[in-house]
Amino acid sequence: MTLKTDLAPSPSLLPALLRRREQFAGQPQRWAFVGTGMMGREHMRCALWLKQVEIAGFYEPHEESAAGAQRLLAAQGLESVQRFSSLEALAKDPTLDAVIIATPNYTHRAVFDVLGPTRKALLLEKPMATCLEDAVAITRQAEARHGAFQLGMQYRFKAQYWAALDALEAFGPVSLINMAEFRPPFLPKVGEWNKFERYSGGTLVEKCCHYFDLMQAFARSLPERIYASGGRAVNFQNFTYHGEAADIDDHAHVLIDYENGVRGQFTLAMFAQELHEELTVAGAQGLLRTRERASFRPGRRSEAALQVETPAHPLFDGTPLAYPDEIEALGHYGATVFAQDAFLQKVRGAPSPAATAREGLWAVVTASLAQRAMALGEPINVTATLKALGLPLDDLKPEWEPR
Ligand SMILES: NC(=O)c1ccc[n+]([C@@H]2O[C@H](COP(=O)([O-])OP(=O)(O)OC[C@H]3O[C@@H](n4cnc5c(N)ncnc54)[C@H](O)[C@@H]3O)[C@@H](O)[C@H]2O)c1
Repeated sequence: MTLKTDLAPSPSLLPALLRRREQFAGQPQRWAFVGTGMMGREHMRCALWLKQVEIAGFYEPHEESAAGAQRLLAAQGLESVQRFSSLEALAKDPTLDAVIIATPNYTHRAVFDVLGPTRKALLLEKPMATCLEDAVAITRQAEARHGAFQLGMQYRFKAQYWAALDALEAFGPVSLINMAEFRPPFLPKVGEWNKFERYSGGTLVEKCCHYFDLMQAFARSLPERIYASGGRAVNFQNFTYHGEAADIDDHAHVLIDYENGVRGQFTLAMFAQELHEELTVAGAQGLLRTRERASFRPGRRSEAALQVETPAHPLFDGTPLAYPDEIEALGHYGATVFAQDAFLQKVRGAPSPAATAREGLWAVVTASLAQRAMALGEPINVTATLKALGLPLDDLKPEWEPR
């Protein structure tokens, strides 16, 4: 299996995943799944494909989601996988090596409170929580616990961002970052939790923590000042669920001054037909650009590209990037299976390229304070605001190698 392009500037990621798939196939880890909705089942498909996991059980209170998981497992001849009767029963099973938590955002803290104290490795879906207090509590507990911990910040494993982060090593100091996502509205969910700010954390937290994670990785710095403007223009204007009107935003501009002087801008509009993501990183040597076009409709392949427009760079005119069809088909344009490969490495105690708990926390801090700036109509000073909220995070800052 090869990448679609000879020019792929990130040759290590896919061959290493395929090598480990062979090497560790005879030593499966026992994984369980909490929440088997859309994302939980995507995780199941990836785990089965990676061949290093025995699916030992799942906990899911919703009959339809449980039946979906059972159908998926039965198609692989795994009819007898255990459905746990409660989260507590799953937590007490001493034979489980790891648990994938893919429940709605507002449940992450409560689920983590049960599983955090165990020694099982945990992969917690993004965003880590819906509010800053919970995100900070989870980060502190994750750093203190005995088992491995990973967040579902899988967009770093999209072909174009992984390659761009690689290419940035030789890029020199960055001055400006522009990132944009244009996509269709939020999809239907079990209990429609993503139409309500209090269940999802709000659009910038729920959807855009991925981009704030990437932007801080490109800036190698944390936000100092945040400006934002956005709201509800088009989507779910007349949507109600159990009599409650949707209140979720659908577009925004966010400006971020990073501590090291890098300036970032993020744009979101959720009224596109297809998914378009664009990134431009600018510095003294030129530009690095990525773009992706993908679809929520089945059977339409994604396309991505990277261009490094600096003097004499081999990718000056750009190159297409993509994962093989089989990997793309596993979900989220191929990124999810790489996030799981990183988790498998973590569970084995090996170094892993996944986002750390602190990076996930700061993605939520950025998103949450951007929403606050939007609501107040004023810029936010990050340090002063965190202090006023009683959440000084000086001891929870990620560190990046200087570029
Ligand atoms: N990494 C990514 O790119 C990505 C993409 C999509 C979703 N997600 C995240 O994955 C999580 C799940 O999203 P989804 O799209 O699968 O939602 P979903 O609504 O399709 O599924 C969630 C499932 O969790 C179940 N659930 C609710 N409370 C539970 C509990 N206490 N214990 C066990 N199960 C419970 C629900 O019954 C449902 O079946 C969310 O945090 C979401 O933000 C991440």
